[in-house]
Amino acid sequence: MHALHVVGARPNFVKMAPLIRALDDHTGIRSTTVHTGQHYDERLSAEVLGDLQLPEPDRFLGVGSGRHGAQTAKVLAAMEDVLLEFTPDVVVVAGDVNSTLGAALAASKLGIRIAHVESGLRSRDWSMPEEINRVLTDRLSDLLFTHSPEAADNLAEEGIRGDRVAYVGNSMIDSLRRYEKEARERRAWETFGVQAERYVLVTLHRPSNVDTPERLAQIVEALGRLAQRCPVVFPVHPRTRARLEASGEPPYVPDLHWVDPMGYLDFLSLQLAATAVVTDSGGVQEETSALGVPCYTLRPNTERPITLTAGTNTLLGDDPASISAIALTRRAGPPPVIPLWDGRAGERMAARLVEPPR
Ligand code: UD1
Repeated sequence: MHALHVVGARPNFVKMAPLIRALDDHTGIRSTTVHTGQHYDERLSAEVLGDLQLPEPDRFLGVGSGRHGAQTAKVLAAMEDVLLEFTPDVVVVAGDVNSTLGAALAASKLGIRIAHVESGLRSRDWSMPEEINRVLTDRLSDLLFTHSPEAADNLAEEGIRGDRVAYVGNSMIDSLRRYEKEARERRAWETFGVQAERYVLVTLHRPSNVDTPERLAQIVEALGRLAQRCPVVFPVHPRTRARLEASGEPPYVPDLHWVDPMGYLDFLSLQLAATAVVTDSGGVQEETSALGVPCYTLRPNTERPITLTAGTNTLLGDDPASISAIALTRRAGPPPVIPLWDGRAGERMAARLVEPPR
């Protein structure tokens, strides 16, 4: 059996590495990895791939950046060529980025089975490009790996049920558990002159937060007020950096550290010693929940409600001013235990993938 794994953007690498590794332990299955090139910067791609010890991809498609339609179309066209060349039995895609949908569409049109890692998440916010990508990828998939119980309900509502859905747990947390100790030992916070458990970590890159200059200015102002209460470390995603630079350099604010994006281990290191995290990322809502670090999400909704009910996540809603008023207390006690977020999701996915189709 030949499985072809598609990765394209930073979060894909983190979700796919545990499955690719687990498949190596199965005989009779061959793996090929294709990197679409949606993320190509050293910091967003090579460094993260290196930290996760993923082997060099077999193909790099170099689709690069662009408008959503053009980017998705480039992945579709390039993936079709790759699939005709490799003729895999199954294509594995992960998450909700444009590369995920482009690759799933290419496989579907060639009649190749598709397995989707992280199926069934729904924000019900159709203005998010990721929601479109999730819904359509799930519709195209033959085997849907879910990480929390509500995903099966979401899929059932859309008529996807039964044998195609496998509740396997969260492979992003497999990566976290594997590298947690190493990340702790890195003490990445020292690089930025802040003390463990005495800084707020911020990541914001959603178009809805950063693409409008007025909203971005409100966010910057709220971060400035937050930094008066506690040092802030903000690794700035290229999209956000570009929007900030459009109105001059990121402003100087004492104790607000604008820093470059970083590799997986350094970022994990910063997460685990933060007082709190402010984000609009999906993966960070999950990682902070698994680490027991309070997370404040600058969005009106989340496709990951389990992080609200069982984890450490709080939705801030839509008002950037709320950032400056977050609680600055670490959570006492051990991290929450979320069923099947146990570091073994990759093994469960691999075991199911090698079974004959039902
Ligand atoms: C993408 C995903 C988003 C995910 C995020 C993780 C989609 C629709 N969005 O958003 O769900 O949370 O990745 O990081 O797929 N850029 C660089 N270097 C790179 C890649 C991008 O400078 O290596 C810049 C370019 O200016 C580009 C912009 O970032 O136009 C946006 O990149 P893109 O991949 O289109 O979307 P992300 O915002 O990264």
